[in-house]
Amino acid sequence: MAPLGRACLLFRSWLAVGLSMLGCGLPAVVLTVAGAGKDVSGSRPNILLLLADDLGIGDIGCYGNDTIRTPNIDRLAADGVRLTQHLAAASLCTPSRAAFLTGRYPLRSGMVSSHGNRVLQWAGVAGGLPTNETTFAKILQGQGYATGLVGKWHLGVSCESSGDHCHHPLNHGFDHYYGMPFTMMGDCAQWALSEKRAALQRRLNVYALCMALVALTLAAGKYAGLFPVSWAPVLCAAAAALLCFALSHFLGPLIVLADCFLMRNHGVTEQPMNFGTSASLFLREVWSFVGRNKQRPFLLFVSFLHTHIPLVTTEDFLGSSVHGLYGDNVQEMDWMVGQILDTLEREGLANNTLVYFASDHGGSLESQQGGHQYGGWNGIYKGGKGMAGWEGGIRVPGIFRWPGVLPAGRVVSEPTSLMDVFPTVVRLGGGEVPRDRVIDGRDLLPLLLGTAPHSEHEFLLHYCETFLHAARWHQRDRGAVWKVHYVTPIFHPEGAGACYGTLACPCSGQGVARHDPPLLFDLSRDPSEAHALTPDTEPAFHQVLERVAWAVEDHRRTLSPVALQLDGYRNRWSAWLQPCCGPFPLCWCDREKGGGRQTPPDRDL
Ligand SMILES: *[C@@H]1O[C@H](CO)[C@@H](O)[C@H](O)[C@H]1NC(C)=O
Ligand SMILES: *[C@@H]1O[C@H](CO)[C@@H](O)[C@H](O)[C@H]1NC(C)=O
Ligand SMILES: *[C@@H]1O[C@H](CO)[C@@H](O)[C@H](O)[C@H]1NC(C)=O
Repeated sequence: MAPLGRACLLFRSWLAVGLSMLGCGLPAVVLTVAGAGKDVSGSRPNILLLLADDLGIGDIGCYGNDTIRTPNIDRLAADGVRLTQHLAAASLCTPSRAAFLTGRYPLRSGMVSSHGNRVLQWAGVAGGLPTNETTFAKILQGQGYATGLVGKWHLGVSCESSGDHCHHPLNHGFDHYYGMPFTMMGDCAQWALSEKRAALQRRLNVYALCMALVALTLAAGKYAGLFPVSWAPVLCAAAAALLCFALSHFLGPLIVLADCFLMRNHGVTEQPMNFGTSASLFLREVWSFVGRNKQRPFLLFVSFLHTHIPLVTTEDFLGSSVHGLYGDNVQEMDWMVGQILDTLEREGLANNTLVYFASDHGGSLESQQGGHQYGGWNGIYKGGKGMAGWEGGIRVPGIFRWPGVLPAGRVVSEPTSLMDVFPTVVRLGGGEVPRDRVIDGRDLLPLLLGTAPHSEHEFLLHYCETFLHAARWHQRDRGAVWKVHYVTPIFHPEGAGACYGTLACPCSGQGVARHDPPLLFDLSRDPSEAHALTPDTEPAFHQVLERVAWAVEDHRRTLSPVALQLDGYRNRWSAWLQPCCGPFPLCWCDREKGGGRQTPPDRDL
């Protein structure tokens, strides 16, 4: 970037910060109600969904952060509707994203584990979003929308062989896919020793040791004439020991090849992927998708790799924030949001496009190294990524913009869910919400337009894997938002609000506390969940617990057993499921060479 261009960008950013702070500072003022009374369902706008990875609600300017610069996201909020109680259906990627795409609690599609695996562990596993689940992309595709996904997927690739792509985005309603089928993780950038790599390494070292012992015993026995073995088993055992030892040594690069790669539609294009160019490759893909499809309604889901560790950030943004690498990465993502919004503007599509921005769940408190925080900030909310019930893991930014239809600068504090995007965009696109299954999301349009005073969610359930940890009741006549915790993770150190020294707090077993009577909070008075209520401090204590228990029972009656995609063999690596650009095990290619530097002709910086 030329120095002048950079200065301009900086100036523009600051200008936008100033303007958006004005917008964010006037929460309750409804500036326009252009859309009120208008029936926009079935009006088929373009739909642009922007989803951040692991971004905390406290990392965004218009959600109260005064040191991180997110002028583009703030501008989106100033021009649209900002949700302050927007909730993920799970606090980890795979289940939360499954719920987002299907409008259903992940327990219904089986996109949860029961033994601590929590997310899909490899690109080459059999688990993934079942083929009979219906995403909003599939419905809109059927309505004539051009549907595209750029970025992270993390919902599986294949079922039985590496080419069947049964869980692939193209099999779930997307016409076009470009991105990372798996997920960012520390291993991709040889960051630190990941838990996955450490566990594998330990196992391989144990195998190596056992095999070496076997080889030595046999050799010694043979030498001493104790047992009559031939040299073959001795050599086999020695070779196995060497192989395990070598594998454990080269595990890092092998994991990078196995999981950190790019795909364009059904083909692997870059393995391992080059993170230095991925941001510009994704932007280029957005430009070209929008350019190709501007004449017809489109749905474009941009699923950022930001702000997940290892926080790969281009040079232009390194050192740009006062919050270290994490802040730099947030600011780069915000810049990308700006570039994408500018694309809409340039193509004359801004007024005809519903834009949505959210994060898949809260920031990771446990992502720390050498005293530095590499995870997101969840503001005043307790807990973070990996925790089901505590607000910090599930309360995320949520912004909708549709100029001329949605009132600008409106703030909605009613409970809403990422699952609500499903029925909302399906109806806007003229589609029908499936009737053969339970859909947990609710059409948000009346709430966004201001024609309905309340969210349709009276109750929301908060699961950790298959375990119900908490439930929320929005008691409308009282204006209370009750939160009942049945199970909470045991923090360490005590009171830390996190499980430091691990990847995330557990959902069950010795690491959780069960509460009987459950813990009760009123989020409308105590959003930080600092003061548990008692029958003495809350006269309605018992009635509230009883009402919520009743709702939980009702909910349980709507569940039916399904195979869990994140348990057992479905979440174990299999060589025959490994996506590769060459014949396995030759997984190495770069078909993007030089592509990352291309920019659209009229990109003005
Ligand atoms: C802003 O975000 C940074 C980075 O996550 C965080 O460290 C800081 O505490 C936040 N500031 C506020 C006021 O929330
Ligand atoms: C887009 O909508 C806004 C708000 O209604 C309006 O002021 C503006 O003129 C519209 N722009 C175009 C290009 O139609
Ligand atoms: C999908 O198929 C599985 C396995 O047959 C079944 O358990 C599940 O209920 C089906 N889901 C839907 C939404 O039909």
